[in-house]
Amino acid sequence: MPAEIFGESYQFLPNSELLTVGEMTRLTRLFAQLGVSKLRLTGGEPLIRPDLPQLIHNLAQLPGIEDMALTTNGYFLEEQAQAIKDAGLFRLTVSLDSLDNEVFQVLNGRKSSVARVLAGFHKAEAVGFSPIKINCVVKRGVNDHTIVDLAHYFRGTPHIVRFIEYMDVGNLNGWRMDDVVSGQEIVALIQAHFPLEPIEPNYFGEVAKRYRYADGGGEIGVVTSVTQPFCGDCTRARLSSAGEYYTCLFGTRGLDLKRPLRQGASDEELLALITGVWQQRTDRYSELRTSFTRLPRKGAEMYRLGG
Ligand SMILES: C[S@@+](CC[C@H](N)C(=O)[O-])C[C@H]1O[C@@H](n2cnc3c(N)ncnc32)[C@H](O)[C@@H]1O
Repeated sequence: MPAEIFGESYQFLPNSELLTVGEMTRLTRLFAQLGVSKLRLTGGEPLIRPDLPQLIHNLAQLPGIEDMALTTNGYFLEEQAQAIKDAGLFRLTVSLDSLDNEVFQVLNGRKSSVARVLAGFHKAEAVGFSPIKINCVVKRGVNDHTIVDLAHYFRGTPHIVRFIEYMDVGNLNGWRMDDVVSGQEIVALIQAHFPLEPIEPNYFGEVAKRYRYADGGGEIGVVTSVTQPFCGDCTRARLSSAGEYYTCLFGTRGLDLKRPLRQGASDEELLALITGVWQQRTDRYSELRTSFTRLPRKGAEMYRLGG
């Protein structure tokens, strides 16, 4: 979200256009009825929603929901870690692209800082989140020289750093293939300091390839969505805060579920809409992009769809 575009005066959607907690709970109940068992609350930044603890509480009670995680930039984590833990959140991911504050701010803007994110991380650890995942997007020439430090910082803890290949989501990040540091290179960089060995995925469709430190110092993950896409294993549906339902992070248009919801659609009607889109999905953007590099299209921005 470049500051030149999303500055202080940018007009985001009015609150009335966002799904209420009740609406999100109802739609999630329907998704769960269709077999969804794992939720991730992302964004945008989920911790800016004042009613987030209520949402977490509602979702944790839904039949069929076995796991619920949240991804945050950590800015408000220190003050909210206890509330989201108490509300029933199972797991947490914190984004932290570098431990070097200068480098961090190149990627994240100057309003946040490494110290602030780490304060949130340690508070989350203190209230009982463990293991916590740490997401680091690696951009060539920007933070690739700091990834070994990041791995080192969390080595020997239960927490798992996940290094993510830089993706061309949306239209605003000026992505070029040259910016991507491949998962293979990332593993080689860390391996040169701390020997690693690959380990089996935890479950079908897990996005990160797992490696453990050979000396027992814990594990890391590498998300190779650009160089080794995993569209064929993808089981994710995405619901934006405005009620659009997408079947791909690189989707161009979502199905509007808010309108039928607000016009009084029955559960059966909403279930039919959700199923209809799911059964016809053909998305495989990342596989196509690998062959042709960036494809010309107007994709939805990541702040609507999460990472
Ligand atoms: C879009 S953010 C939303 C949640 C929250 N605001 C945050 O910053 O963690 C979710 C994740 O997307 C990942 N991400 C953002 N931009 C990316 C990019 N261009 N390529 C790959 N991953 C990206 C970040 O690692 C982040 O952990």
